[in-house]
Amino acid sequence: MIEVRNLTKDYGQRRAIESLNFKVEKGEVVGFLGPNGAGKSTTMKIITGFMAPTSGEALVCGYDVFENPMEVKKRIGYLPETPPVYGDMYVKDYLEFVAQLKLVEKHKISQFVKNAIEKTNLGPVQNRLIQNLSKGFRQRVGIAQALVSDPEVLILDEPTVGLDPKQVAEIRDLIKELRGQHTIILSTHILPEVEATCERIIIINQGKIVAQESLSNIANATKNTTRQVSFKVRRNHNELIQKLLSVTGVVRAVAGSAPGSVLVELNGSDDAVEMLASTVVQSGAGLIEMQSMAQLEDVFLKLTYGAAET
Ligand SMILES: Nc1ncnc2c1ncn2[C@@H]1O[C@H](COP(=O)(O)OP(=O)(O)OP(=O)(O)O)[C@@H](O)[C@H]1O
Ligand SMILES: [Mg+2]
Repeated sequence: MIEVRNLTKDYGQRRAIESLNFKVEKGEVVGFLGPNGAGKSTTMKIITGFMAPTSGEALVCGYDVFENPMEVKKRIGYLPETPPVYGDMYVKDYLEFVAQLKLVEKHKISQFVKNAIEKTNLGPVQNRLIQNLSKGFRQRVGIAQALVSDPEVLILDEPTVGLDPKQVAEIRDLIKELRGQHTIILSTHILPEVEATCERIIIINQGKIVAQESLSNIANATKNTTRQVSFKVRRNHNELIQKLLSVTGVVRAVAGSAPGSVLVELNGSDDAVEMLASTVVQSGAGLIEMQSMAQLEDVFLKLTYGAAET
């Protein structure tokens, strides 16, 4: 569905991305991860035909982005880093305008606009001027314009930036809903977002791909490294910490800063975590919260910063 071959982009002397190669299959949701300046937006601008690469190719639905830009643009919905919304237009009118630009057939336009408004929960503001909306709502308008032509491919550059936690959760749900019907690439810095919505991730650092894995493979790759688990109990906090130190695999157990919280480091197979959890429950300390630190975060940090530290 999307294929990128040896994609390189130089901005003057600065090489932003170098020989990127990847494929995204139909219906896949792929997370594009990388620190600031890694080259995520640059890659997305090229795939969507907004910018030419210095060398290499990008194909969308079998069409070369630069040989057949119209065919590609018809099939792609793109949310750029800065949403392309016109402040002096009303939300609904703007979405109709975008649908026309995307060559949606006339008789389908009002239904398509309605669907995009529903999916992004813009109903209550559909008759307001875009410039008067809050930042989060403007971001939703940006997402709605990407969806409005019901495109096969969605390229979303940091779709949840500027949204409040409730809206972030809504967009996550929306992306989950779109999965299967659309092929999606989304970029983000927010790792739980990737874990919640993507099947596969591409990690990019300093313009190069440093990992392309399914999330399940990442989980396996980190199976036997140290991981951190935190939890909260209601009673017998100190006794519990002593007990945990004797659980197989636990290398450290200390009180956290919040009342009743405990941080544990253990050699990280799932078995060890299971044993830890059952010990806490059986201790009768009254478990009210338990969280295993994201493995993805470990992998991400190792790949993007770790190399410089060792
Ligand atoms: N128009 C431009 N002119 C010159 N350099 C640019 C331009 N756009 C981006 N760059 C540089 O290219 C590199 C990649 O930038 P890009 O915006 O693709 O990164 P990003 O991964 O999207 O970062 P962020 O997470 O901050 O959005 C950076 O070093 C950036 O400074
Ligand atoms: Mg960017």
